[in-house]
Amino acid sequence: MDKITVPKIKRFKGEKIITALTAYDFLTARIVDEAGIDIILVGDSVGTTVQGLSSTIPVKMGEMLYHTRIVHRAIKRALLIGDMPFLSYQTSQEDAIRNAGLFLKEGAEAIKLEGGITIAPLVEKLVSSGIPVMGHIGLTPQSINVFGGYKFQGKTEKGAERLINDACSLEQAGAFSIVLEGMPEEVGKEVTAKTKIPTIGIGAGRFCDGQILVITDILGMDPFFAPKFVKKYLNLYDEIKNAVSQYKNEVEEKKFPTEEHVTHQNKEI
Ligand code: KIV
Repeated sequence: MDKITVPKIKRFKGEKIITALTAYDFLTARIVDEAGIDIILVGDSVGTTVQGLSSTIPVKMGEMLYHTRIVHRAIKRALLIGDMPFLSYQTSQEDAIRNAGLFLKEGAEAIKLEGGITIAPLVEKLVSSGIPVMGHIGLTPQSINVFGGYKFQGKTEKGAERLINDACSLEQAGAFSIVLEGMPEEVGKEVTAKTKIPTIGIGAGRFCDGQILVITDILGMDPFFAPKFVKKYLNLYDEIKNAVSQYKNEVEEKKFPTEEHVTHQNKEI
């Protein structure tokens, strides 16, 4: 077992495609880790996937720290990254460093935050404070109110140029990798070619240095959520529903528990 570290992720660029998934709980994180995924992100997508929210904006620091703590208990190999929620890093550098540091205290080995050129000075400060930073540009979900919804970014020449500048600024500031979310494949490819740090794509095409998806999406747990960039490797919604219905029927029909599930009194003791 070769523990994945921040320097290793940087070295993977051009050497190996990086695999990444989100996880929010112990059992799932253990499976993801044992399957050999390189990066586990405790994403603020916990808000939409676990908490039933319609966006990530209400997710709180305390909630992110709780999920980071329990995921950390499961991980032996993957690099663990904590996702900084909305308002945990925008208010001041002091707030950002304190909040980022709290993720590291829970076992995260790096943090991720959304934004490009405007947060580059903060990235520099975090890195110089000993906190590795993964950037996140493109369709950054914490900015949906600015974008007017979940809208792909970089579709125009100007928009693409902005994303390339954002990526270069993050690299210069010391970010060790960047998530590219929701942008045309051509832009994902150009950003990847123009940076020396790995790009991890989600809805950014085939030419990124790695790919990340949300665990509940690849497992098919939400039949109502099926964006083009997601591939469902399972239909866990149906699988779980079938298992639960079977259990319900067997309990009601007194088919469970059976002899093999019961313990008998030992009269000799
Ligand atoms: O919150 C999250 O899960 C993310 C990934 C999808 C990149 O930011």
